Amino acid sequence: MANLIIIGSQWGDEGKGKIVDLFTAHFDIIARYQGGHNAGHTVIINGRKYILHLVPSGILHPDKLCVIGNGMVIDPSALKTEIEELREGGIDCKDRLFISNRAHLILDYHRLVEKGDEDRRGDARIGTTNRGIGPAYEDKMGRRGLRVCDLFNPETLKSRLQDNVRLKQALVPSIAESLDVDAIYDKALKLGRELSGYVVDVADFMNRNLDEGKSVLFEGAQGTMLDVDHGTYPFVTASCATAGGACTGTGVGPTRIDGVVGISKAYTTRVGEGPFPTELHDETGNLIREQGQEYGASTGRPRRCGWFDAVVVNYSRRINSLDSLVITKLDVLDVLDEIKICTGYRYKGDLLKTVPADIQVLEQCRPEYLTVKGWKQKTDAIQDFNDLPVIARDYLKRLSDLVDTEISIISTGPDRVQTIVASRDSRLSSWIKL
Ligand code: IMP
Repeated sequence: MANLIIIGSQWGDEGKGKIVDLFTAHFDIIARYQGGHNAGHTVIINGRKYILHLVPSGILHPDKLCVIGNGMVIDPSALKTEIEELREGGIDCKDRLFISNRAHLILDYHRLVEKGDEDRRGDARIGTTNRGIGPAYEDKMGRRGLRVCDLFNPETLKSRLQDNVRLKQALVPSIAESLDVDAIYDKALKLGRELSGYVVDVADFMNRNLDEGKSVLFEGAQGTMLDVDHGTYPFVTASCATAGGACTGTGVGPTRIDGVVGISKAYTTRVGEGPFPTELHDETGNLIREQGQEYGASTGRPRRCGWFDAVVVNYSRRINSLDSLVITKLDVLDVLDEIKICTGYRYKGDLLKTVPADIQVLEQCRPEYLTVKGWKQKTDAIQDFNDLPVIARDYLKRLSDLVDTEISIISTGPDRVQTIVASRDSRLSSWIKL
């Protein structure tokens, strides 16, 4: 039984939800390890659409166990709402959802602090999802955060809340009036009681299950370029969205993990601010947005669209030790006369083949493109690789060569059935038989 990590190899929204859903049948446990309800996985099953923000999409499969790891930040109100919505849709999380007692909490003041911070940054704002993610991770690293286990310790909860609220009031005087410690405390205690049945020591839970031979699919959220260490800092999220985060975020050591699968769109998108070398500011960008319905699952914001960037995905291969790549939304490109692939960045006469650390340098990089003809045929719902137009197959082959990674799966539409297994002889197929 293999244990695999799935990560986004661009700026998030690569369609991980569908691929995780496709892989889920081959695993016993599906675990999220970083981020919070800034993520939004959309899964369509039998025409019904589910948008999940915190709970792994494995919950839609009745025999799977789902984990919210210690590396995540949890807004208990958002989690409660999600559990209730799942229940209304006929899905019961009881005895199947396990929440880490060490995960940090997002409380009402985090969102207010974030808004104040974004306003203060003005034109240099990050363009966050405004879910309180960054400030909650700041408190974690500042060693003043409140964790899920604190919901069951009223004295600690109260005194730490008082300290934290005082600090936020001093930091952002404009929110001082709106913060009522007693109200936050009462609400947190109540939510703690409601969620208590799901709370466990996740590292212990995971390792015991692994000892018993159970297999785990680690479900990354966001993407490599939004990782706090390896992304386009400071225009990143506050967590470890790369493969390494799976270990720290669940308490499972690296030697227990067998492989890493990267998900990438056949083009590139990004939401929020920050550098995006292959961004299109023209009609083609608008066409890709409309064809791909590129609007944020969590915030509804229009996504910025651009060409496939092999520099980014290659960088992602290295950072995550990718074994295999899944290409999603190939069908979105069906309408284009020609398609470009970025093969390098031109910076002051030099040709860069990797992502520079300094975003001012990245902002000045000009993509070097390889231009290929569009296939101009419908590919949606194709299920056999050989049924793809030759030009589309060539396009995929070029991507695979440029990022030096096998392409094991191609997605040609949102539904489970709109999927091509590119090769029965891939590294991926040595772990799961699709
Ligand atoms: P935060 O995670 O809300 O702090 O936002 C930081 C950056 O990450 C912003 O550019 C967001 O748009 C981006 N971001 C956060 N979550 C996602 C996601 O699930 N998909 C794509 N971008 C995201």
